[in-house]
Amino acid sequence: MASKEKYLFYHGLPIPKTAHSAESLKYLETFQVQDDDIFCVTYPKSGTTWMQTILPLLLNGGDLTPVENIISWKRVPWLEAANFASVADKLSSPRAMVSHLPYHLMPASFYSSKAKVIYVARNIKDSLVSSFYFHQMAKFLDDPGTFDEFMDKFLAGQVFWGKWTDHVKSWRNTDLGDRILYITYEEMIQDLREVLKHILHFLGREMSEDALDRVTDHSQFKSMKQNKMSNYSLVSEKFMDKNKSSFLRKGICGDWKNHFSPELEAKFNTVIRKEMEGSGITFLWDEE
Ligand code: A3P
Repeated sequence: MASKEKYLFYHGLPIPKTAHSAESLKYLETFQVQDDDIFCVTYPKSGTTWMQTILPLLLNGGDLTPVENIISWKRVPWLEAANFASVADKLSSPRAMVSHLPYHLMPASFYSSKAKVIYVARNIKDSLVSSFYFHQMAKFLDDPGTFDEFMDKFLAGQVFWGKWTDHVKSWRNTDLGDRILYITYEEMIQDLREVLKHILHFLGREMSEDALDRVTDHSQFKSMKQNKMSNYSLVSEKFMDKNKSSFLRKGICGDWKNHFSPELEAKFNTVIRKEMEGSGITFLWDEE
């Protein structure tokens, strides 16, 4: 079980007490979603921070001011975070927000609104590896133990925000129609500029080729790693031990291959295939 010392249990999902409170969860439930709101939804360690850089750049015509001056979690805040009430008022329209909530736990006003959602999925095995290192460095999460031990916790959903499979399934079977765009971390790695064009189209926006080049450049891993407003270097050591891992760690696809033994891979595949059975959801990485 995830520890009661470090986690709140929100509808059964373990979420860190440092980042969420009973008040902030209440605030989220009655939050008034507006028709032009934009949410980027992810299971943790799938590219949330990346989208906290991309969205303001795309929504401001490639102007670098927000990403150079506002810390990522204030510029595109988490809907469910403890600081949300204090930053929500300062967001200018259209508001961009991120969330790890499953579909059925979005604010009541979301469902009848016209707000749009960009859902970013990442290869579950790479999300697991990224989460393993994040659990090592984030002092507000349970110690992950060994990689093998962490895999068991991950498969049982005893990690922050529960199971990857539940999250992905909840956001696939919605009636949001053209209000939701599905993208993957892997597509962003393969051709970021092309994905940015899809996002622009989805948001009904246009951008000059020059501005798009600038956004692409400033959203690259190496640029974000140097940007104090995006790289988590300003977070106190009290919360994150950066000697154990960087927040922007590797930023690649396929790091799982350096961590999974053939035995672990076989065990992992069996569990995940069973959980995804009948969902009709397939990803390119299923073939790997
Ligand atoms: P790794 O730990 O594999 O490096 P989240 O923001 O959802 O917590 O996800 C964090 C993961 O996204 C980390 O993965 C981080 O390095 C990666 N990431 C963030 N910005 C990125 C970028 N510009 N390019 C590639 N990966 C990025």
